[in-house]
Amino acid sequence: MPVASINAATFLEQRIVQECLNNVTQHAHAKRLRLVLARRQHGDSLRLLIRDDGVGMDVGAPHAGFGLAGMRERVLSLGGSLQIRSWHGAGTRVRVLLPSVEPPAKMAVGSRQGSIRP
Ligand SMILES: Nc1ncnc2c1ncn2[C@@H]1O[C@H](COP(=O)(O)OP(=O)(O)OP(=O)(O)O)[C@@H](O)[C@H]1O
Ligand SMILES: [Mg+2]
Repeated sequence: MPVASINAATFLEQRIVQECLNNVTQHAHAKRLRLVLARRQHGDSLRLLIRDDGVGMDVGAPHAGFGLAGMRERVLSLGGSLQIRSWHGAGTRVRVLLPSVEPPAKMAVGSRQGSIRP
């Protein structure tokens, strides 16, 4: 059963990308950033990956900000998952999966992959 409408998922996707790019700019001191957005062939799930090569972070430590916590809450509320992995001095990876996204009748599906400097 679909748990997220495509509009909700797309909106969330944009917010997550925005928040992750903010974080990379503000905290990571990265040289490179990799961003992958992928929809499965029939539009029933959405995968998002943001990987930087910056300073890394302590994922388990308490943080004052609301960005990551807010993202996780919104993803979970749509039935998805959000995973953060980080390596000291070697960057951070955020992976998001939003399952069972309801496809509109004729949706263009595809995936984009690229590497840009923050
Ligand atoms: N890509 C990253 N590289 C290194 N550290 C990060 C990265 N993303 C987040 N962090 C660390 O995790 C903390 C929590 O991030 P979060 O987005 O929740 O809050 P914030 O960015 O500090 O504030 P807010 O998002 O509320 O403006 C940050 O303060 C920073 O220390
Ligand atoms: Mg933030």
